Amino acid sequence: MGEMRADRFLSVSGFCTRSEAKKVIRAGRLKKNGTAVTRPEEKVDPAADELLLDGELICHEEYEYWALNKPAGIISATEDPRHETVISYMGLKRRNMAPCGRLDIDTEGLLLVTDDGALVHRLLAPASHVDKVYEVSYEGTLPADAEKRLREGLVLEDGTKCLPAELLDSSNPAALVLREGKFHQVKRMFAALGCPVTHLRRTAFGPLVLEEMGLEQGEFRKLTAEETERLKQEAGKSRKEKS
Ligand code: URA
Repeated sequence: MGEMRADRFLSVSGFCTRSEAKKVIRAGRLKKNGTAVTRPEEKVDPAADELLLDGELICHEEYEYWALNKPAGIISATEDPRHETVISYMGLKRRNMAPCGRLDIDTEGLLLVTDDGALVHRLLAPASHVDKVYEVSYEGTLPADAEKRLREGLVLEDGTKCLPAELLDSSNPAALVLREGKFHQVKRMFAALGCPVTHLRRTAFGPLVLEEMGLEQGEFRKLTAEETERLKQEAGKSRKEKS
């Protein structure tokens, strides 16, 4: 990427718009190798210079990919007037950071957050059929034909037909694999089976398995290059390759 103007660096890195970048720089908030950059046109080299914005080390990356072990109580949105969002909870500053799909406010577990909108689109497209695994605690007893009904495509109480889902474990908590993400889907599926959900946690998203990621509840970190690559490969696979 080489040398570039400081204001351009801040805007292509997604920290702010080009005009905001000029203000940020004139206010002395960007430091290059320990000295404030005060002119927007001053050259910086993201590969060689140490660049700090408001005291925090920043470097240019085209996109950022994060994983959060979401606790209950925060919402999967970028902005909300009433609740803390995953973006504010994680303190993410880049402009287009957004959760990859939604977990309900009371749902816990693995949530990806990125500004790579094209990847999010591919991962969430129903045709991509990316597996999502949920640990489901529920009331009552699952009917004897629950596994078969899920495998054949459960019909929800409002008549919506789901794609085939796999019940990996029918004990309580159960383990359920979905390949789509309708609104409140797991809760609505278990309601249709006569077993209201009492607690829900996502344990895997595509190739990423929460237990292998070393994230306690409430913790988050950037994906490794290898994890990001596996996710991209999953998003690029055709339906045929997966079945
Ligand atoms: N299904 C639900 O019902 N809720 C979630 O948060 C995720 C899947």
